[in-house]
Amino acid sequence: MCGIVAYIGHREAYPVILKGLKRLEYRGYDSAGVALLNDGLKVFKKKGMVADLEESLIGENLHAHSGIGHTRWATHGEPSDRNAHPHQSSNGKLAMIHNGIIENYTQLKNELQKKGYQFKSDTDTEVLLNFIEDIQKNNQCGLEEAVRIALKRVVGAYVIVLIDQDHPDTLIAARKGSPLVIGVGKGEHFLASDASPIIEYTKEVVYVNDYELAILKPDELILKNLGNEKITPFIQKLDLELAAIEKGGYDHFMLKEIFEQPDTIFDCLRGRLDIHKGTITMAGVQNHMEKLMHANRIIIVACGTSWHAGLIAEYVFEELCRVPVEVEYASEFRYRNPVIRQGDVIIAISQSGETADTIVAIEKAREQGAFIFGVVNVVGSSIARISDAGAYTHAGPEIGVASTKAFTAQLAVLTMIALKIAKEKKTISEERYLQLLNEMHEIPEKLREILPLNEQIRALAEKHKDAKDALYLGRGYNFPVALEGALKLKEISYIHAEGYAAAEMKHGPIALVDEQLPVVFVATRDSYHEKIISNIQEIKARKGKIIAVISEGDEVIPMMAPDIMRVPNADELVAPMLSVIPLQLFAYHIGVAKGYNVDKPRNLAKSVTVE
Ligand code: F6R
Repeated sequence: MCGIVAYIGHREAYPVILKGLKRLEYRGYDSAGVALLNDGLKVFKKKGMVADLEESLIGENLHAHSGIGHTRWATHGEPSDRNAHPHQSSNGKLAMIHNGIIENYTQLKNELQKKGYQFKSDTDTEVLLNFIEDIQKNNQCGLEEAVRIALKRVVGAYVIVLIDQDHPDTLIAARKGSPLVIGVGKGEHFLASDASPIIEYTKEVVYVNDYELAILKPDELILKNLGNEKITPFIQKLDLELAAIEKGGYDHFMLKEIFEQPDTIFDCLRGRLDIHKGTITMAGVQNHMEKLMHANRIIIVACGTSWHAGLIAEYVFEELCRVPVEVEYASEFRYRNPVIRQGDVIIAISQSGETADTIVAIEKAREQGAFIFGVVNVVGSSIARISDAGAYTHAGPEIGVASTKAFTAQLAVLTMIALKIAKEKKTISEERYLQLLNEMHEIPEKLREILPLNEQIRALAEKHKDAKDALYLGRGYNFPVALEGALKLKEISYIHAEGYAAAEMKHGPIALVDEQLPVVFVATRDSYHEKIISNIQEIKARKGKIIAVISEGDEVIPMMAPDIMRVPNADELVAPMLSVIPLQLFAYHIGVAKGYNVDKPRNLAKSVTVE
C-alpha cells in the first residue's frame, strides 16, 4: 500500500528512487511517480507499473541530487496519471508524496476553494499540499513551520515527504500512523516506507515515530516533534541482507517464500527451543510471565492470514494453558465497544507490523488497561514498537503479497509462547510438554519433506485451474487451515473460494456441491479423523471433486479421493504448519497457470496502512 522513497545527497537521485520504488512494488500499487530538483522542480507520474514510468522517462533529463518517489494505491480518486503522486502545489514550488488518508480533507478543500484554489486531482494529498502552501503564504513562514501548523489541523494518518524548489538542499518529512524509515549515509540520507530500498546503501536507520518531523539535508538530520522541540535520532543497525529481498533464482517471491519455510521455521526456533534442556527461551515472555500466566483472558487481534494464525492459536492456548481466548478481526474490535478488563492480555499478530486496524485495536485495548503482546515479523515496525512486550517471528522479509512463510512462523512462535506459559502454569504434563517440544523441533525437517510435492501439485493445479468456485473444509486445528487455503486461492487465482468447518457444511454450503465443484479437505490424521472421513463421504455422495491433504500412511482417504497431497505425520497441535504448505503451492500454481501476477495480485496491498 503506497510506497515512499526519497533521496538527498551526492548520488544521482533518480536511479536510487526508481530502484527503491521497484523494491516497494510488493506493497501493491496502481501508479507511480517521481519529483526531481534539477534546475527547477520536475514532476513525472504515470498510471501503471514502475516500469511504465521508467519507459516514459527515457530521453528526459533526470539529473538531480534530491528527489521524491511514490507508488500509489488508490484511496481518493481512481488510479490515473492525474491522481498519481507526487502532487505539485498551486504555485508550482512544492511537491509532495503521501501515504495514508486525510480524513478532514473535504473541509480543508472547501476552505481552500473559497480562497480560489483549484485542484488538478481528486486526492486528499493535493488538498493537504495546498493547505501547506496557503499557510506558508499567510504566515510568511518557511516550509517546516507551515508543515507543522498544517499537521496540527489534520485528522487522519499520513507519511508525507516534501521537496521545495526554493530549498533544494532540504527534504521535509512527517509521520503519523504510517511507516517511515530514514537511512543515514555519509553525506546522504534516504527515506522509505520500509528498509528494503535503503539496505543497499546503508544499514544505519532511524525509525520515525508518530507526530515527528524530519528535516533532512545531505549531511544533517534533524528530528522534531510538532511542538518544534528537537529529538535525538535513535540510530539502529539493520540486520537485513540484500539477498533476503531478492528472488534468488525463483520465478516468483511467493514460490521462494514457500520454499524458504524449512529455514524460516528453523530460524524462528533457533536459540529459543532446546530439546536437550527441555527449555523455551523467549525473553519477551519470560520478562512478563506473571502477566501472561495470570491473564483472565487472551484476546487475539489481527487481520487476514494473521487472523487465521490467531484462530489456530486459540485452540492451542485453550488446550495447553486452560485460559479463555477470543480471536477478533482488528477492524471490528476497534469500532465496537468491547469489554476489556485489567488482567486481559491482547496478542496482536501482524506480519508487517503496520496494519492500521491492528494498530488502532492495540491502542484501544491499551486505553482500557490491557497488556499488549505483539507477534510481529518486521523488526522495528510500528506494532513491535507500541507493544508492551513481544516476540518476533524471524521469517525474514516477505515480499509476495500473499502471506506464506509469515503464517507458519506465526504459528511456531504462538505455539512456543503457549508451551512456555503452560509449563509455568503447570497446565501441561512434563511428558506432553517434552513431546510437543520434540514435535516442534522436527517441523523444519518435515517441511523439507513436503516441498518435493511441488511438481505433483503443479499438475493438480493444471487439472483444477478452470474451476469457478472451490470449497475448503477442515476440522479442529485444521479448520483455520481450510480458511487460509481458501484465502490463498482467492487472492492469487481470483477463483471464488470458501473455507468452512467441515461439520458446518451440511448447514448450508453443501447446497453448492455438484460434479463441477472442487472440495479441498484438510484431513491429516488427528482426533477428528473419523469425523472428517464421514464428511468426505458426504461430498463423494454428491459427486463433488475431492482433493485432500492427508497424512503419510493414510490408505483410507485415497480410496475416496482421487487427488491427494500427503504430508508427514505430526501431532495435531503442530500439524497446521505442515498441512497449509500444499494449499499454498496449490494456490500458487493455479495463479501461475492462469497467467496472473501472483506476487502482486490485483487490488491487494502487502501492508494495509489505511483502515
Ligand atoms: C493474505 C494477507 C493478508 C494479511 C493481512 C494482515 O495473504 O497477506 O490477509 O495477512 O493484511 O497483514 P499483517 O499480518 O501484515 O498485519
